[in-house]
Amino acid sequence: MIKCLKGNVIFAEEKNKLKVMPHSYLVINNERSAGVYESLPEEYKNAPVEDLGDKLIIPGFMDVHLHAPQWLNKGVGYSEELLPWLQKYTFPLESKFADIKFAEKYYKLFVDELKSSGTTRACIFASRHYEATKLLIELMKESGIGGYVGKVNMDRNSSEELQETYEDSVKETTMLAKEYSGDDNALVKFILTPRFVPSTTSELMTKLGEIAEKYNLHVQSHLDENVDEVAWVKELHSDIPTFTEVYEHFGLLPDNRTVMAHCIHNNDREIEVLKKHNTFIAHCPLSNFNLASGIAPIKRYMEEGLDVGLGSDISGGHTLYMPVSCVAAVSASKIYHVSHKEYSPLTFAEAFYLLTKGGGKFFGKVGSFEEGYECDALVIDDSNITSIDGMTLEERLEKFIYTGNRGNIVRIYCRGKQIK
Ligand code: GUN
Ligand code: FE
Repeated sequence: MIKCLKGNVIFAEEKNKLKVMPHSYLVINNERSAGVYESLPEEYKNAPVEDLGDKLIIPGFMDVHLHAPQWLNKGVGYSEELLPWLQKYTFPLESKFADIKFAEKYYKLFVDELKSSGTTRACIFASRHYEATKLLIELMKESGIGGYVGKVNMDRNSSEELQETYEDSVKETTMLAKEYSGDDNALVKFILTPRFVPSTTSELMTKLGEIAEKYNLHVQSHLDENVDEVAWVKELHSDIPTFTEVYEHFGLLPDNRTVMAHCIHNNDREIEVLKKHNTFIAHCPLSNFNLASGIAPIKRYMEEGLDVGLGSDISGGHTLYMPVSCVAAVSASKIYHVSHKEYSPLTFAEAFYLLTKGGGKFFGKVGSFEEGYECDALVIDDSNITSIDGMTLEERLEKFIYTGNRGNIVRIYCRGKQIK
């Protein structure tokens, strides 16, 4: 079925330039965009058109790194850095997801809030629990938004209640891989999720590398987030030169299908390894501020051709609403620029690219309205915040991202289907 939305269409076609099309037609052919036109081409003349007036039509937001079971903890615990924060706040909360009733209550609230935030694709860590992870996958499917969900693997250096055995980890991960892989077109897919090097034994990492290959799975984890974490990895694997190469050694950087969160303290050698495997980087500025982890050299990654998207990293980050992470990415880049003059700050257009088309690349052809892209769209009513007469559409978008909220999102489409 073909349908058309008429409005002020804005999307990031290139890394540093917005495509702005006033009062234009976004043509949706089933799941995909058939392009954006100033006037409707002859072949679509009979298609139904919905006129959205002066509203903005923009791509859905992409969140390439977050932890669903940490949703209740957002906004607390930020006087600690990563390692004590995990022990004091994160592990105790995640261990509660052994209780499926608890999981059901909070995963429902989580998915509702994720969807109402305008996020149409997300790359999600569940907890290490098999049943709760399955439930989260099913709730995501019901919601109409898409992405990846992974059962966390963690068989060392955790709390007593949360740590799993090697045997259970392998058994449950294999069950999920069998149940949820194989359909490349599925909107919600399973992703292999070793928590990070310190929480997975060499034995388990070896096995997970084999599972990733056997089931052709995507992989997500954490990399070079915090200086104490980096030192700990060095201690645990003194025979391997770098943190990045530990993942590589165990087959956990499969080419083109791995996303690593943070990547703040990587050295040049590690950056070359990431390039070699075309590893995707999830930039999580809110989390990096809250846990005093540092600032990732995002402009450098972009200039050197690495793929980057934005992650809320709930609950290292404190909000699921991705425009806040987009603004934080700009702020982080400005602070970074002060001590690294060779890298200019991110422009608004670049940050919006990361929020949409940049992050969307991890999910396929997603995050843009170019012809052939899966059509994830938000309709924005910014009439309560367009305070200055004669603002350009670029300015209206920037103002919405900086000062708007969920209430401005009046419609949501994912893969061509209206879900709100
Ligand atoms: N490293 C290992 N686990 C975690 C986590 O839950 N959050 C963050 N930010 N980093 C991690
Ligand atoms: Fe994280």
